[in-house]
Amino acid sequence: MNDFSSVIVSENDISERLDALAEQIRTDYEGRDVLLVGVLKGAVMVMADLARRMPNTFTMDWMAVSSYGSGTKSSGVVRILKDLDTDLTGRDVLIVEDIIDSGITLHWLLGNLRSRGAASVEVASLLRKPDAVQVEIDVKYVGFDIPSDFVVGYGLDYNEKYRTLPFVAVLKPEVYGG
Ligand code: IMP
Ligand code: MG
Repeated sequence: MNDFSSVIVSENDISERLDALAEQIRTDYEGRDVLLVGVLKGAVMVMADLARRMPNTFTMDWMAVSSYGSGTKSSGVVRILKDLDTDLTGRDVLIVEDIIDSGITLHWLLGNLRSRGAASVEVASLLRKPDAVQVEIDVKYVGFDIPSDFVVGYGLDYNEKYRTLPFVAVLKPEVYGG
């Protein structure tokens, strides 16, 4: 028996959506050198696939933050586990995220990166859950709006597992005791 039930975003869905998002991003940033900031570890897959659709003048850097612990609900406490290597002064920054749930992580991250003197800070997230729509965060690029179910795959984990799945699937509630 699989631990996940329905596949809600297939490998092909992801690929087609990233094609469209990438085109929009390349157009919006025409002639500018963008720093893509991936949020570890969940964003590794979307970063890898999005970055390969970008001009070779775009650069990548990574941050690790923690807002979750090992459960399935945001704790509201955000800590930097790994900071950027790049000076953001005058840079156009595009945060690349896997999913926005409560929006707590992103709200905090936006404030943090904007305070470092970047010329612009925008967000691209593969997935967005309904709660996030209520938070006052302007997410410029969204792949898919999905239901509030806990999902895994394509970088998203439950207790570090399932990140390697090439698609996004709903984790069965009995797996996490929900
Ligand atoms: P937020 O602060 O509630 O928006 O949650 C942000 C982080 O929680 C995401 O970057 C994910 O790492 C994690 N997260 C939120 N929802 C899910 C989910 O359904 N599956 C796996 N991880 C999730
Ligand atoms: Mg994440």
